[in-house]
Amino acid sequence: MTKYFNEKVALVTGSSSPRGLGRAIVNRIAEEGSKIVIVDLKQDDVEKAAKEVSSQYNIEALGISCDVTKATDCENLISEVKKKFGRLDFLVNNAGVLKDNLLMRMSESDWDLVLDVNLKGVFLMTKSASKLILKSPTGRIVNISSVSGLTGQPAQANYSSSKAGVIALTKVSAREFAGRGVTVNAICPGYIQTDMTGSLPEEIQKKLQEMVPLKKLATPNDVAGAVKFFLGEDAGYITGTALRVDGGAAIGM
Ligand SMILES: NC(=O)c1ccc[n+]([C@@H]2O[C@H](COP(=O)([O-])OP(=O)(O)OC[C@H]3O[C@@H](n4cnc5c(N)ncnc54)[C@H](O)[C@@H]3O)[C@@H](O)[C@H]2O)c1
Repeated sequence: MTKYFNEKVALVTGSSSPRGLGRAIVNRIAEEGSKIVIVDLKQDDVEKAAKEVSSQYNIEALGISCDVTKATDCENLISEVKKKFGRLDFLVNNAGVLKDNLLMRMSESDWDLVLDVNLKGVFLMTKSASKLILKSPTGRIVNISSVSGLTGQPAQANYSSSKAGVIALTKVSAREFAGRGVTVNAICPGYIQTDMTGSLPEEIQKKLQEMVPLKKLATPNDVAGAVKFFLGEDAGYITGTALRVDGGAAIGM
């Protein structure tokens, strides 16, 4: 536990599932003593997650349901955070969905859903949180993108486009908020072992592992460590970057 994290309030979207990246990020911040706002679609899930995190790490944790694609949900969420804690220091835009299909077969509704959650959701959350986070002496925003947004993946026209958009949005917000000392960075994970990838057939998961020089998929904790670095004191002079956390996939075999 450090003084730096101890006095801060952190909000992580898409963080109610115990197996997801969002919860791993929450755990990494909570163990440092920050107060936590757990955000996800269902009220029951966020309340349960907040109770678990609060008792495990002995910190204040609040669960608030919010659909990040809805502007009024995002605004109400930030009003509640302001009422409860009076401040917001860390925002992690992690909520995301996949709806893979070849471009020729991809429905317009699957395109819209993925762009709405993964890209518009980051815009709406950042916009709603900006007033409060700009007042923090050490405001930090971390956006979860993907290597898919850097390279483009077959069957992911919607997902790759949304995650590339997140990198551009990261750079724009980094420039706009720099004057107030708020940093904004993106993380581009390769494949992580979560529910999102657990549904892939076993032979595909094995193939993916073979493609990574470190010969394993990332755990949620591997990626959460990079998020904690960007939120921490040592990353104060880093903004507008997109960091790959991909087991060396970028350098190839
Ligand atoms: N799993 C991977 O291999 C991988 C790789 C690269 C990037 N990512 C990114 O990491 C992030 C977390 O992924 P994960 O693997 O933990 O997936 P996950 O499906 O376990 O978690 C995503 C969370 O987002 C929530 N969510 C979905 N729509 C929402 C909405 N409209 N409003 C609020 N919350 C919503 C879900 O309920 C869920 O809890 C995502 O942005 C994903 O694109 C994942």
